[in-house]
Amino acid sequence: MSATLTSTADAPSANRYRRSQRILHWLMAIVIISALLIGLYCSYLVQGTPLRRALLDIHKSLGMTALILIAIRLPLRLSLGEPAYRRPLDVFSHYAARGAHILLYVLMIMMPLAGYTTSAAGGHDLPWFGVFQWPNLLPPDKSLERTAAIVHEYGAYCLYAVVTLHILAALWHHFARKDEVLQRML
Ligand code: HEM
Ligand code: HEM
Repeated sequence: MSATLTSTADAPSANRYRRSQRILHWLMAIVIISALLIGLYCSYLVQGTPLRRALLDIHKSLGMTALILIAIRLPLRLSLGEPAYRRPLDVFSHYAARGAHILLYVLMIMMPLAGYTTSAAGGHDLPWFGVFQWPNLLPPDKSLERTAAIVHEYGAYCLYAVVTLHILAALWHHFARKDEVLQRML
């Protein structure tokens, strides 16, 4: 484990995620929810219009940012683990949370990769907020583009559902059960 991870600023406070994990969680929550909402809006716009192109550029930039952040977050999670609960959750909540978190991690990896593949195999732009272009590592391939677009679209439906349940569960724990769950991430 590196010196940064064990520094006082990032020390495990008994029942909360480490500071680095909390910052990454909230940063990614903002990035992913914005990407989801912009993607959803774009799906109602006519292809090729200047507004759709501009919004898709922002969407792709957010999505690629999520890909970089998850590449940092996942190893951190695997090495640091999660904090203990003061009072263990009941069995149902424990397995529901575990399942939802694993699914969120899978989707956080799958969505940017499928988005990248759609754009790269289609020979489209891969911008990052107008600052630079990501390298296109794929040869033009229409059928790969179509397959990746389908994975991206159905992945988005799953993400809408799981993120909504995740947020409702966090609010339910905090306001109805009045337990420690939300505090662990604040
Ligand atoms: C966390 C990351 C991402 C999320 C949550 C996300 C979500 C979405 C959603 C909800 C849509 C609208 C539904 C659809 O038409 O598929 C969409 C469309 C799209 N996304 Fe993403 N996306 C992400 C990353 C990316 C990345 C990294 C790229 C490319 C570099 C990308 C490129 C596209 C493109 C080109 C479309 C339009 C597809 C079409 O109209 O056929 N996305 N995305
Ligand atoms: C308003 C939005 C959100 C709230 C209130 C929220 C709240 C929380 C809370 C309280 C936890 C800790 C749960 C526990 O310790 O059992 C957590 C964990 C987690 N959240 Fe969120 N979250 C939000 C958005 C998101 C989004 C958009 C994503 C990803 C798409 C996400 C992914 C995760 C993951 C993967 C974990 C598990 C962390 C780990 O064990 O490494 N969250 N969230």
